[in-house]
Amino acid sequence: MQELIQRISEEATVLSDTVLKVDSFLNHQVDPLLMESIGKQIAEKFKTSQITKVFTIESSGIAPAVFTALHLGVQLVILKKSSSKTLNGDVYQHPVISYTKNTTYELTLSKQYINRGDNVLIVDDFLAQGQAGLAAAKLVEAGGGKVVAFVSLIEKSFQKGKKLLEEKGYKVCSLAPVASLENGTVTFLEADI
Ligand code: G4P
Repeated sequence: MQELIQRISEEATVLSDTVLKVDSFLNHQVDPLLMESIGKQIAEKFKTSQITKVFTIESSGIAPAVFTALHLGVQLVILKKSSSKTLNGDVYQHPVISYTKNTTYELTLSKQYINRGDNVLIVDDFLAQGQAGLAAAKLVEAGGGKVVAFVSLIEKSFQKGKKLLEEKGYKVCSLAPVASLENGTVTFLEADI
């Protein structure tokens, strides 16, 4: 998606050969017009896929995912990274190791928000190692749903997430696939959306 690629080119900071900072429009400050435009594009791509729910993982995936759900006319489910007091025992959980943050958490979905036969589109901000995406898919499938595709805004194509998910048979799409962050420069591949 040219609009997102342009914003990354203009505003992102390359923190290292593996980490990109996009705080000015996605991870800290959020640009609602850009998020709406992204959600509209994703919805356009999947409008004939009979999506019944959009899923995301808290927290930075929420903004683009809510606009995707709005434009598809379906509900958004936010997968939680920790159990809260309001989530009772009726949940599906799967552990996620975050390599970037060096932490482990239980990705959690209340059973009432997934139905047998649901066709789920998973939207998230970054695809890096793919561990969070894989866990999200396990939760969808535990509830009898099917993952139609993973959509990441920014895919770090030089890390193993995309390959891992595709090897498991999932469709993976990105609006801004990043081939490399070497020498402080962001190099893009051709986008799927
Ligand atoms: P994975 O999500 O693909 O399994 O990979 P990883 O464990 O490496 O990612 C952990 C967290 O770090 C995720 O955010 C992911 O979005 C974020 N992340 C990974 N690479 C980058 C990067 O280059 N730049 C930025 N800005 N973030 C990156 P999270 O823990 O889910 O946090 P949140 O921001 O969604 O709350």
